[in-house]
Amino acid sequence: MGGTTAMGIWKVHAKIARYAMEHGKHVAIEVPAAMNLTEIWDLINTSERTRRHCMQLENCVYDFFELTTLNMAQQGLFGEILHAEGAYIHNLEDFWDEYWHDWRLLYNRDHRGDVYPTHGIGPVCQALDIHRGDKMNVLVSMDTKAVNGREYYEKHRGEAAPDFQNGDHTMTMIRTEKGKTIMIQHDVVNPRPYNRLYQLTGTKGFANKYPVEGYMVDASKVGELMTVPSAQGRREKVDIENLSAHSCVPEDVKQALMEKYKHPIQKDLEQTAKKVGGHGGMDYIMDYRLIYCLRNGLPLDMDVYDLAEWCCLTELTAISIENGNAPVEVPDFTRGGWNRIDGYRHAFAE
Ligand SMILES: NC(=O)c1ccc[n+]([C@@H]2O[C@H](COP(=O)([O-])OP(=O)(O)OC[C@H]3O[C@@H](n4cnc5c(N)ncnc54)[C@H](O)[C@@H]3O)[C@@H](O)[C@H]2O)c1
Repeated sequence: MGGTTAMGIWKVHAKIARYAMEHGKHVAIEVPAAMNLTEIWDLINTSERTRRHCMQLENCVYDFFELTTLNMAQQGLFGEILHAEGAYIHNLEDFWDEYWHDWRLLYNRDHRGDVYPTHGIGPVCQALDIHRGDKMNVLVSMDTKAVNGREYYEKHRGEAAPDFQNGDHTMTMIRTEKGKTIMIQHDVVNPRPYNRLYQLTGTKGFANKYPVEGYMVDASKVGELMTVPSAQGRREKVDIENLSAHSCVPEDVKQALMEKYKHPIQKDLEQTAKKVGGHGGMDYIMDYRLIYCLRNGLPLDMDVYDLAEWCCLTELTAISIENGNAPVEVPDFTRGGWNRIDGYRHAFAE
């Protein structure tokens, strides 16, 4: 299939990818594939000029909840999605020792902003049809001071780092052309449970992955899946003392919904993916889809413009933070083509 993969430390991904495309290879790159706008435009230009695929290996878009929820969103279960949240909240204290020559710690020492945004933003961009009918226009980012990151660095490396750059917690708000909002967070140093958030708020429903998976949907959408029908189909008067009156659908309804809306990709691959593993199976699905699309001459699930949109947060969040949390314009990496495709869809051979 004439492909290659680029995996290593963040600073080398884009260089390896460019070299591969220049030598006639399609390329799949670990996350984040590019760390600044220069690298991003370089990958776009090279991919367009060489007509080679340039895909970022963002595995989190293939996790089971995300796939099922994307299918629900595409079937209109949540109405119009207005707001989405994603994150990379992962306490790396048990992992820092494992990184080759402390490359990740050093990167965080030297850079402010959300340096690892793609796990959080990838799945929500697919649900919001970014560059398939909408585009990100502007972002504002804020971070806390660096406390645990700096302390860990100093203890681990035995050297002072008064100028440690990466804030312990970084949050970014984005507004889209179609009036939607996105919030993305990054925190790899505080004692918090693992959390990628993945939350969608729509005009007719809601989905949430962490810490507890749940859905809230319009009763009419649940229909026969409801195990406990409301009395004669009437809406009960809301007890205003009951602050949890509006809650997610019961577990058995959730299970029934997830079965009914299971994504076709998941239906095909779930069993093998769970057996083979790789972050619970999502890595297997990602690799399978990459090879499947290449073999069948189909558009890949993630194109170079997805790569650009998801990776650009690394530099743009730093620019916002370093300029008093100023609004920063998100470039249209498609050069005006963001509205040509009507909605995000996976391609299939049949
Ligand atoms: N998608 C995911 O879920 C996921 C999970 C873990 C890591 N990652 C990504 O994978 C990449 C590697 O992370 P890791 O945890 O394996 O780090 P690591 O420190 O364990 O491995 C980094 C590797 O890069 C190699 N390397 C260093 N300089 C290089 C160069 N100039 N050219 C080629 N290789 C070079 C090192 O020899 C080392 O083997 C990172 O980009 C990381 O963000 C993604």
